[in-house]
Amino acid sequence: MTSRSGAAPAAAEPADRRALEEVLVLDFGGQYSQLIARRIRECGVYAELLPASTPVERIRARAPKALVLSGGPASVYEPGAPPFPTELLELGVPILGICYGMQAMVLALGGRVESAEAGEFGRTELTLRDGGGRLLGGLPEEQSCWMSHRDSVFEAPEGFRALAATPSSPVAACEMPERGLYGIQFHPEVAHTPYGTEVLTRFLHDVAGCTQKWSPRSVIAEQVERIRAQVGDGRVICGLSGGVDSSVAALLVHRAVGDQLTCVFVDHGLMRLNEAEQVVEAFGRFGIPLVHVDAEQRFLAKLAGVVDPEQKRKIIGTEFIRVFEEEAAKIADVSYLVQGTLYSDVIESGGSDGAATIKSHHNVGGLPDDLKLELVEPLRMLFKDEVRAVGAELGLPERMVWRQPFPGPGLAIRIVGGEVTKERLDILRAADAILQEEIRAAELYRQLWQSFCVLPVVRSVGVQGDGRTYAYPIVIRAVTSEDAMTADWARLPYDLLERVSNRIINEIRDVNRVALDISSKPPATIEWE
Ligand code: XMP
Repeated sequence: MTSRSGAAPAAAEPADRRALEEVLVLDFGGQYSQLIARRIRECGVYAELLPASTPVERIRARAPKALVLSGGPASVYEPGAPPFPTELLELGVPILGICYGMQAMVLALGGRVESAEAGEFGRTELTLRDGGGRLLGGLPEEQSCWMSHRDSVFEAPEGFRALAATPSSPVAACEMPERGLYGIQFHPEVAHTPYGTEVLTRFLHDVAGCTQKWSPRSVIAEQVERIRAQVGDGRVICGLSGGVDSSVAALLVHRAVGDQLTCVFVDHGLMRLNEAEQVVEAFGRFGIPLVHVDAEQRFLAKLAGVVDPEQKRKIIGTEFIRVFEEEAAKIADVSYLVQGTLYSDVIESGGSDGAATIKSHHNVGGLPDDLKLELVEPLRMLFKDEVRAVGAELGLPERMVWRQPFPGPGLAIRIVGGEVTKERLDILRAADAILQEEIRAAELYRQLWQSFCVLPVVRSVGVQGDGRTYAYPIVIRAVTSEDAMTADWARLPYDLLERVSNRIINEIRDVNRVALDISSKPPATIEWE
């Protein structure tokens, strides 16, 4: 791969970072670590995640306003359990340990952590002690919180004050304000801890003295400058998918360098109804140079006779790259490539702090190694919801800002058990359009992670008027999810399902049956292929 990560990793750019107050979340591997960083940002303070093993000198170089230690799956007594890095104490910044983070800190400072008789998982009643101290004082004496642990703190270290208890955690929170050390056993970052945001806010603003108001919007000016500095007067190319990430990345780059940017939209003919037109229309309105490649015929020809899902994916991916390369070659002197890499991609690829990341898995927009283009990744530090906020601020149409995730191979992986043909795509597009329209009308679109139709290539018998029909079924798939790793089937209202079913069967001649997929992930997946 000769593409280089253009946006230098945050640790390598202390100069302009220093203007920004930041809190670092040291990740001990907990399932909510990303969520902690997101919540801190929602409190108006910029936060990034670093591995708990990050050398203290790297942390010092970032001059954080505070540190938060995340939870983690280990028991502090397990061999190889990550220890509390005591050198952190030398930094002189406030530290908040959460769950494992608290236990590791307490243990290192001489407190007593033991395996409790019963673990606490889920909603737990918390009782304040002694007024709740600096961190919890003034909050209700009794409150519920979200717990997920087996070990508990039985005694806080010397000099610490215990602030709260639960049935299985004698010390569910403790602090030593004189040294800026705070610990909570519960998870303030999850919605099931009603006072969680209040606790984080206190720590960030009252304890750590964070005063700036960070917001996703403040990223716009910063990124525009950064892109200008990186790109100079070079030419930039961006592959649009119609999704929010590539669209927002393109808008930011266009704001920074105007017509030095050309967008390429490879329309593979596997999009939903009117989706390609929406992309062309939106970018036209912004005056962004856009090459719209109508490659439907090309893709369908390659897909003829293919049924195997992985083969479909491979064909679409390869063809996508070919078309993109052909178009890129027509634009003279391009040296930069925009990618909509998000912070969660950066973290998941193992490096919030330096890994060059390219969205590739699950992304047909994954581009070839030999393009020899330097990457411009203006969303590298943003979570998805923040990207939406930036998109809305930049004037991206609502439909695109809130678009549900859509797979790169598009409708091709929703025609199951048979060849992908134009006729079947049109049937699926028509059914999908009805589903989307009704879900939007019921104001459920944003609550669903994804909602779509699947066309199994089988025919079943039906009766319409006086005659028998022999037509396709359509399966409705609607799921709720946080991150697509797990998902639950959405409990759509019956009257909505009835309307969708009636309309699909009445309006689409080739469909005589509608079914609802009521499987969760796992064991099913979200897509059918
Ligand atoms: P599954 O079906 O594995 O999907 O539960 C998880 C998420 O990934 C999306 N998905 C894809 N996205 N190319 C993509 O760009 C693909 O080949 C692909 N397959 C699944 C899926 O829509 C869901 O959001």
